[in-house]
Amino acid sequence: MSPPRILMCPPDHYGIEYEINPWMNRSLGAVRELAFLQWRALHDELVSLGVAVETLAPQPGLPDLVFTANAGLVFKNRFLSSRFRYEVRARESPFFDAWFAANGFAVEHMPDTMFHEGAGDALFCGESLFAGYRTRSDAPAHQWVGRALGVRVLPVELVNTRFYHLDTCFCPLAPGEAIYFPEAFDAYGRKVLSNHVPKLIPVTEDEANRFGCNAVVVGKAVVHNSRCPRLAADLTAAGYRSIEVELDEFLKAGGSAKCLTLRLDGEEAAGWKQGERQEDGRHEPAEYR
Ligand code: ARG
Repeated sequence: MSPPRILMCPPDHYGIEYEINPWMNRSLGAVRELAFLQWRALHDELVSLGVAVETLAPQPGLPDLVFTANAGLVFKNRFLSSRFRYEVRARESPFFDAWFAANGFAVEHMPDTMFHEGAGDALFCGESLFAGYRTRSDAPAHQWVGRALGVRVLPVELVNTRFYHLDTCFCPLAPGEAIYFPEAFDAYGRKVLSNHVPKLIPVTEDEANRFGCNAVVVGKAVVHNSRCPRLAADLTAAGYRSIEVELDEFLKAGGSAKCLTLRLDGEEAAGWKQGERQEDGRHEPAEYR
């Protein structure tokens, strides 16, 4: 069985150089050495879980390039490149596009009249693509993606600017199962989630503010920021293994574990990935340890 593949970008040029979300404060800055140690710890943890981590070369002047989740949306061998809301991040796209083209993906672009921030705002859970909109991505872009991929899109509005990307407040664990921060959504959004995800595990406000929802799922292992004891206990009770890695230097930019990664072979919860496994005649549960 081929190992899970994840794209990361080392934080050589990471820093808080502009403010495009409520977490960012230029005067606070980030401690580069600490950021490097924390990034390394996440990287090494994923490697120890059996992940093949690919790395994108860091680029001077692109402090947020570390957040590879926003590169675009991966669907089988297709890479739908993001249309970033802010120009400071749109400059990352040529580097992401080049990496994906060089690594055998078909690179596709959305119309430039739309905004879409990739896997940060679009997450498969089962057959459906859950799509966060308002702060960064917009609803027309999600509809465009749904048509391009031929999948059902379930748009949910992100009503709290601190949870500006869907992956800051929602994390699919498996088809039909996810963690989420209820207050990041309105009543309608919560209904969409509960109607389509039978097992929803709520995360407390304190732990959502530690970006507990911004987790990386590898088989039954869930890697998330430190000091989320309630989440860790709830994951354990649900049959998962919670692994904490302190990523506070990245919280200063409004990111954590999930934002620092982009799954290249399909997220654990993606229905299309499960389908592929069956076509391949592989029926093993997604466990790597
Ligand atoms: N500073 C980055 C931004 O505001 C953080 C991105 C976090 N990424 C994520 N997938 N939530 O765009």
